[in-house]
Amino acid sequence: MEDLCVLILAAGKGTRMVSNRAKVLHKICGIPMLGMIYRAAARLRPAEILVVIGHDADKVREILSGFRASFVLQREQFGTGHAVRAARAELKKHRGDVLVILGDTPRIKTETLKKLIKRHRTLGGAATLLTTSTPDPTGYGRIVRNDKGNIEAIIEEKDATPAQRRITEINPGFYCFKIPPLMEALRELSNDNAQGEYYLTDLVAIQRQRGMQVNAILHEDFEELRGINSRKELAELSTALGKQKKLSLMNAGVTFIDPDKTYVELDVKVAKDVVLYPMVTLEGNTQIGEGSVVRSGTRIADSIVEEAVEILDSCVVTDSKIRKSATVGPFSHIHSRTTLGEGCRIGNFVEVTRSAIGDGTSVGHHAYLGDAKLGQNVNIGAGVITCNFAGARKHATIIGNHAMVGADSQLIAPVKIGREAMIAAGSTITDDVPPGALAISRVDQFNKAGWINHLKGLKKD
Ligand code: UD1
Ligand code: MG
Repeated sequence: MEDLCVLILAAGKGTRMVSNRAKVLHKICGIPMLGMIYRAAARLRPAEILVVIGHDADKVREILSGFRASFVLQREQFGTGHAVRAARAELKKHRGDVLVILGDTPRIKTETLKKLIKRHRTLGGAATLLTTSTPDPTGYGRIVRNDKGNIEAIIEEKDATPAQRRITEINPGFYCFKIPPLMEALRELSNDNAQGEYYLTDLVAIQRQRGMQVNAILHEDFEELRGINSRKELAELSTALGKQKKLSLMNAGVTFIDPDKTYVELDVKVAKDVVLYPMVTLEGNTQIGEGSVVRSGTRIADSIVEEAVEILDSCVVTDSKIRKSATVGPFSHIHSRTTLGEGCRIGNFVEVTRSAIGDGTSVGHHAYLGDAKLGQNVNIGAGVITCNFAGARKHATIIGNHAMVGADSQLIAPVKIGREAMIAAGSTITDDVPPGALAISRVDQFNKAGWINHLKGLKKD
């Protein structure tokens, strides 16, 4: 949109969250509150998105790293009006209007913001804001209108008279201002109120008293405009959005055995004919391909699971890729940029990290593969481990196609096992094994005949 700048206020601590982290960092179904608001604002295609930061400034910045946003530091947080003042120099560079929104109203839709800006531009006043109604207005600023129904002021709950507190039309915190008159009005803000803060909401009365036109538009959907101020509200919204997400996935052909017991974050993509069992957690930028099955107790984060994969119970998969038709688990841990090839079989109690496993390879039971590169159709026996860490740095293990590593072998990295090589069970491999060779590296067995008779003799003495 032309001549439009967006200002997001995100510097506050959020005392009612009782947290060491700034409120806008708290996640709703996997997405930080600020991230949700940013997305809604970015779809307006404004000339600039300015974000006022203060508490946890670096972490707040990080949420938007890689996105088009500029930051203004509000060193001390003396209120929402003070936050807008902190952005004065930046706002002065713009023409037209500024849309001011709060960092703690994450459910806002772009269409609603568009409607507000359009109305503001048609009505032509100095400012236009959204209002909404709720039977329980506790905590919100109340909208005070005059006999003609025009807005006169917003009164914060702590400053309201008992009669004003009974007003159910509230301020959800979405304002569109013409920039030049806003600059002037900001100078007149004072902190002479119950909280000793500079209230952004006081701008309404200031502009009205100067005879300027301020318009308030009633928006029916209170839930969309609701602020998040406590853990309870955070959890309620998270649950509500999670429900919506699962419903849309069901409509797109995903089976949930018990949807209320499965946690799916908002950015997760799940294809049709996927079956998700109870107690499955899908987080971050995860994708699950068509026809895959994820059994109970499994957590998958920031990973790609292709088609027809079966992940059995109680696995953890993070930051990895599982190619089609692979099976994983139960009780496996796949992490840190690991790739499992097509049709791989990763069995019980197997950990794979920073590794690439070729197509058709099988790692059946109780193994540890770290910094390993395995070819196709390799067979790894039970209890095999790569000894990849030599105290200072990690070393690689490379295993060629069709190699077989016998049970309980240790591969002391760096080491290479050639294609079609075989490692005898119980070996400790310290040197490279040529292709097609058999490596046996274990102590020869010694049988002492008649040992039982020797023992019995000892007992008689
Ligand atoms: C504010 C409004 C209230 C409205 C409600 C809607 C004011 C004075 N009150 O109250 O009328 O009903 O939102 O949800 O505006 N922030 C800063 N710097 C500061 C203070 C706050 O950047 O110095 C940011 C916070 O990070 C937050 C937002 O402004 O994202 C709102 O602050 P908050 O303290 O939650 O205001 P409310 O008390 O909810
Ligand atoms: Mg708030």
